[in-house]
Amino acid sequence: MSVIEVTGGKPLRGEVAVVGAKNSVLKLMAASLLAVGKTTLQNVPNIVDVVIMAELLRRLGCSVQHDVENRSVTIDVPDLIEHRADYDLVRQMRASICVLGPLLARTGQAEVAMPGGDAIGSRGLDFHIAGLHQLGASVTSEHGYLVADTKGMHGASMTLDFPSVGATETLLMAAVLARGVSVIDNAAREPEIVDICSMLETMGAKITGAGTSTLEITGVESLSPTTHHTVSDRIVAGTWAVAATMTGGEITINDCHPEHLEIPLNKLSDMGAEVSSTQTSVKVSMNSRAKAQDIVTLPFPGFPTDLQPQFIALNSVSDGAAMVTENMFEARFRFVQELARLGANVKTDGHHALVRGVERLSGAPVEATDIRAGAGLVLAGLVAEGKTVIHGVEHIDRGYTNFVPDLKRLGADIERVD
Ligand code: UD1
Repeated sequence: MSVIEVTGGKPLRGEVAVVGAKNSVLKLMAASLLAVGKTTLQNVPNIVDVVIMAELLRRLGCSVQHDVENRSVTIDVPDLIEHRADYDLVRQMRASICVLGPLLARTGQAEVAMPGGDAIGSRGLDFHIAGLHQLGASVTSEHGYLVADTKGMHGASMTLDFPSVGATETLLMAAVLARGVSVIDNAAREPEIVDICSMLETMGAKITGAGTSTLEITGVESLSPTTHHTVSDRIVAGTWAVAATMTGGEITINDCHPEHLEIPLNKLSDMGAEVSSTQTSVKVSMNSRAKAQDIVTLPFPGFPTDLQPQFIALNSVSDGAAMVTENMFEARFRFVQELARLGANVKTDGHHALVRGVERLSGAPVEATDIRAGAGLVLAGLVAEGKTVIHGVEHIDRGYTNFVPDLKRLGADIERVD
């Protein structure tokens, strides 16, 4: 088991490059199942979840080549594929559920283990199931698996109760091969949805409205394999922006899309950071103590829940008090208990957290319970007095490529100890 040891107090200075988004590439890998032949994904992050998804696709009958050096994954999809995703993989990575739509569309059947709850909340699948019903599939739950089959899917008009990213992706990947026209209303608008739509379009899918609340999909007979460059990870970019602000440093974040981070970057400006963007990079610098700012998480283009722990960490050492409201995942505040071990003053009540800034945190052993909580704890360790030891590093490995080496290069006093 590895731990990360960090001694706080060093401002981070320099440049980092951001690679493709975890939350996009896993879905793009699943989407490759929709076409027979070789699909290549570029700008793939070197994270554990990609390895798990590659294994899942292999078990479905694909051959998968992961070239870590060139950041590419090539998936060769045979004509006949299996249709079962086992619990041993799904329990390691909840996002495995994203094979449900493509499997149904390609084979007319799917058996996908139900992921259950995770460290950030209960996370339902009811919107996925209701939409698949409307597209003409029967979906039941048997022995811990979602068992779906269809004699052929047809276009349908669907309205999501909430703009769920996962449900939008499942229904999109099912609808592209369905007969006729489908409409998904109240669809998610995240940049990762735009990314998968653009890949599906190069495969021959007919989709309009990507990035808006209404997606219209005209089903086609078949799709062709493609080559696609994964959209840059806005959450990783946002984490670097917080790191610059929190440590009183200056980081130029390259290969990112600042327009995907409008609200978080505005928050950092309001906190006192200097933020200047080009189309593909953003420079964030800070030379004073941050002023606490309220945060409310919402679907894109609102403030992303995946940056909430990092901003709680930042608010915890800022001047003043801030109210952080979490609207997506009820258990995300679990990480606050770990932050309190470093001396943070945070009170939670339901989906609100009141963060009162303290002058300084003091290093201690802490446990990361999920990817973003892990990032938040590393950020806190960067400013805490003395040594912070972060356990549960395997969570951070699921979402951040080269995190510790990059932090070190930027001047942090940090080591990964195996
Ligand atoms: C994805 C991201 C996650 C991010 C989240 C919100 C991946 C792998 N994960 O998760 O990092 O935090 O989007 O931006 O891409 N819900 C239901 N029923 C459903 C589906 C969702 O009640 O059928 C609820 C969820 O419990 C949650 C909310 O809707 O409260 C949003 O979930 P969703 O957008 O689906 O998140 P994920 O796709 O799971």
